[in-house]
Amino acid sequence: MGRILVTGAAGFIGSHLCRALLDRGHVVVALDDLSGGFRANLPEDHDRLVFLKGSILDEELLSALFRKHSFDYVCHLAAYAAEVLSHFIKRFNYRNNLMGSINLINLSIIHRIKCFMYTSSAAVYGMVETPASESDVPVPNDPYGIAKLSVEHELRVSSDHFGLPFVIFRPHNVYGEYQHIGDRYRNVIGIFMNQIMRGESLSIFGDGSQTRAFSYIGDLIDPLAECLERKEMHGEIFNVGADHQHSLKVLAQVVLRAFDAHREIRFLPARKESPRACCDHSKIKQLFPCLPQTALEDGVRRMAEWAKRAGPRDPSRFGDIEIERGLPETWRE
Ligand SMILES: NC(=O)c1ccc[n+]([C@@H]2O[C@H](COP(=O)([O-])OP(=O)(O)OC[C@H]3O[C@@H](n4cnc5c(N)ncnc54)[C@H](O)[C@@H]3O)[C@@H](O)[C@H]2O)c1
Repeated sequence: MGRILVTGAAGFIGSHLCRALLDRGHVVVALDDLSGGFRANLPEDHDRLVFLKGSILDEELLSALFRKHSFDYVCHLAAYAAEVLSHFIKRFNYRNNLMGSINLINLSIIHRIKCFMYTSSAAVYGMVETPASESDVPVPNDPYGIAKLSVEHELRVSSDHFGLPFVIFRPHNVYGEYQHIGDRYRNVIGIFMNQIMRGESLSIFGDGSQTRAFSYIGDLIDPLAECLERKEMHGEIFNVGADHQHSLKVLAQVVLRAFDAHREIRFLPARKESPRACCDHSKIKQLFPCLPQTALEDGVRRMAEWAKRAGPRDPSRFGDIEIERGLPETWRE
């Protein structure tokens, strides 16, 4: 059992991870600035969970937290994960996703943390046509992916220089219960669900033939929760997620069926993005041979049941766009 700091804890993946860590008997200090997460995503009242509203950019707060709690482990998930938008908010992206991570790495070295778990992203691979493997040379093609890859390198160097143990995961296109469905810049499944519940047509950038391997959250939470105490995972990078790809056009029909709804599809001008994105998962399957691969229909149905209970959200707007040039029209509305 350990004392664990989870950042981004009130977010989608973070809240699932907190529940999985609590189920395993750990003590969890959950930190989140609630910029993209919700306090209600976490258990209201649990004797081994402490929730703190605060930012990973607040160095004083972090120093005090590390001093007070003597953490064994850090699970760092806090980030703003809006890949395409990151081109237009570069400064914010690097400050929040890179410098915020450096604050945590510094303190983890100083306080001799036993393992630092980091959710990087398959965005580090950039444009790849074939299933990306952990041994491929990553060439990210957006600022979000660059920040993620920089933190990966920083962890490797901190491990070499200071002996900081780490585990890095590269998830991709994760969806499920507790995901923020009201963010217009990311999470296409959530965007579709919100549009359906608001009585709107579904919007797709491009012709909808682009494919993604949509990954149900329940299929990847065990490795995230168990890596801290599994020494054979330390110092390693793992792709996690679904093997099979689906086009956005097919996805739209799957989501509509889950709501028993009919909507028009609005095809918007294409954005610069990979036509295909998928990863090789043989490395994680060697350690977790029984990881489930939930079928898209089933995962979407589970998420839809939750979304119907939670209800629609106002599509939030990012307040401080740094570059307006080339911003998709629908993001200006
Ligand atoms: N969801 C995916 O498909 C996916 C894929 C690859 C990687 N990831 C990574 O997994 C992690 C979790 O993603 P998610 O999908 O749960 O997103 P999310 O937005 O639901 O969760 C991120 C959380 O971090 C918090 N946060 C952001 N900036 C913060 C700051 N400065 N200080 C404190 N808290 C802050 C937000 O409020 C939010 O609750 C992120 O690091 C993301 O890059 C997600």
